[in-house]
Amino acid sequence: MLKIKNAEFVVSATDYKKCPQNDTYEFAFIGRSNVGKSSLINMLTNRKNLAKTSSTPGKTQLINHFIINDSWYLVDLPGYGYAKAAKTERRKWEKFISNYLINRPNLINLFVLLDSRHAPQKIDLEFINWCGENNIPFSLIFTKIDKIASSQLSKNLTGYKKKLKEQWEELPPIFVSSSTSKHGQEQILSYIDDILKSI
Ligand code: GTP
Ligand code: MG
Repeated sequence: MLKIKNAEFVVSATDYKKCPQNDTYEFAFIGRSNVGKSSLINMLTNRKNLAKTSSTPGKTQLINHFIINDSWYLVDLPGYGYAKAAKTERRKWEKFISNYLINRPNLINLFVLLDSRHAPQKIDLEFINWCGENNIPFSLIFTKIDKIASSQLSKNLTGYKKKLKEQWEELPPIFVSSSTSKHGQEQILSYIDDILKSI
């Protein structure tokens, strides 16, 4: 299994042009504000405070690169769907993030995080469809599974897959995670490892 020997913060960028050079591969994390992107990065790397987390939505505002094993990046992105954000703010976010997603040829996989407790939300489905239309390679991670009974989790997963199949012939890879119990760590890291080995 992939061993994280080293994980270091590199830069917080206000613009995709200010991100590190496209010199190695990267995996990014996106999803609603508060879904658990930053916590997941800490969980995967076994670090407590590598990425900054908060119980208040809207914590991560910039594009944050972390270099892993001196070799490839994990990228923490700001969340969407922040309830208090004004429409103009939302437009700004969309431009900022879509620029990053479209202009990073070294981005080999985008993890789209979904809260395992909720039914499919319009904003997430729209984002997933946007990824498909723009050929962004992505997979799904259902987060916070420690907060839900396993029977409810499997119900929600079945419901979500059914919803996705209305739009997609083939489903993307799907993971489940908990940043508190570390559930999913091994599966997600070996998925990353397999991709890195295949390129
Ligand atoms: P933004 O940066 O605001 O977009 O949010 P984020 O998606 O990075 O979420 P963050 O990791 O900051 O977590 C939000 C809140 O959810 C924090 O209070 C975390 O402690 C909590 N949280 C995240 N993941 C989990 C999880 O797997 N289980 C539980 N119980 N809580 C979690
Ligand atoms: Mg965050």
